[in-house]
Amino acid sequence: MPRAADTSRLVLRSDYFDDPRAWHAFCDLLKDIFGIDVTPLEGLGGPDPTCSPTGFFDQDGCCIANLSAFSMPLMIAGRIVRAAGWQSGAVRPAWRGRGLFRQLMDITFDRCRAAGYEAMVLTTRHPGLYEPYGFKTLPQARFFCPTPSRPVSARVASTTVSRARRLDIRDASDLALLRKALADRTPVSKNFAVLDQSHMFLLNAWLSPSVSLHWLEHANCIVATDVSSPDRLSLLDVIASEMPTLSQLQAALAPTAVEVDVHFPPDLLSISDGFATTAADDGLALMMWHRDGEFPAGPVRLSPMADF
Ligand SMILES: CC(C)(COP(=O)(O)OP(=O)(O)OC[C@H]1O[C@@H](n2cnc3c(N)ncnc32)[C@H](O)[C@@H]1OP(=O)(O)O)[C@@H](O)C(=O)NCCC(=O)NCCS
Repeated sequence: MPRAADTSRLVLRSDYFDDPRAWHAFCDLLKDIFGIDVTPLEGLGGPDPTCSPTGFFDQDGCCIANLSAFSMPLMIAGRIVRAAGWQSGAVRPAWRGRGLFRQLMDITFDRCRAAGYEAMVLTTRHPGLYEPYGFKTLPQARFFCPTPSRPVSARVASTTVSRARRLDIRDASDLALLRKALADRTPVSKNFAVLDQSHMFLLNAWLSPSVSLHWLEHANCIVATDVSSPDRLSLLDVIASEMPTLSQLQAALAPTAVEVDVHFPPDLLSISDGFATTAADDGLALMMWHRDGEFPAGPVRLSPMADF
């Protein structure tokens, strides 16, 4: 049986994360709709302080619907773009089809514009929801290349190269190392990358069993890889203040891999032969609205560690 049909009895609230009851009602909504538990964020420094949720609550304090926006500055074509990310858009099934999400989209769009954001980005399986606002789907790609060939001397040397140390996000000292690296990071690409997405990085690393984190002390960086393909080096993200070369990464992480698969635009990975590109087709559209209609040229890719 649907709950009461009268939406006039719902309470509309914005910026409610500092109310513990409302925060937990929001967490319940995400768990019920997407099966995602975001409460580990409480142990990872709390939710992103820039996150601005707007939601409908019923008389019992249950969160019926929500849409959030947070600051997500991007590097696009060598320029910093002040963007907002939209996330956590959901309406409980019994309340769908009554215009609740339309109201939340209108409010969130107006609030982002009033806050002066130049762009807004989101990922969705329902692009039609956002097209009326001027959001456009950005073509996403995956980037492949054979592992870089190295001179024989380098191959011999790689046996003595210090290998990467696996990090455990549930270990306090490893988490502190990660936090410090995230605070000092440079964007992983000049073409298209987040400037800082620490909260989502930590949550994605916490929640995804196939993500493996490695500390490369000699290159002073942390690398996130996908361990589900053993004969391939699958790079998800590189947290560094100066990007290492692909050869350095391969030598430390996967000396026997025959192929590299990069999940972000690889323009900063020094490699002479270039990358083959295939369309990324995971059914999830990356969409962007831009105040002046400026969209990135060519295919882009948002690191899965920045997924939001
Ligand atoms: C998608 C969802 C948020 C829609 O909520 P809702 O309250 O039923 O939406 P509304 O009644 O406000 O409808 C808003 C508009 O979107 C349209 N719409 C609804 N679902 C849609 C869909 N899947 N694709 C495209 N358009 C859709 C409606 O026709 C309506 O258009 P109109 O205002 O021009 O008449 C809800 O179905 C939901 O929570 N789904 C599961 C989670 C999800 O997919 N979230 C979206 C993440 S990006």
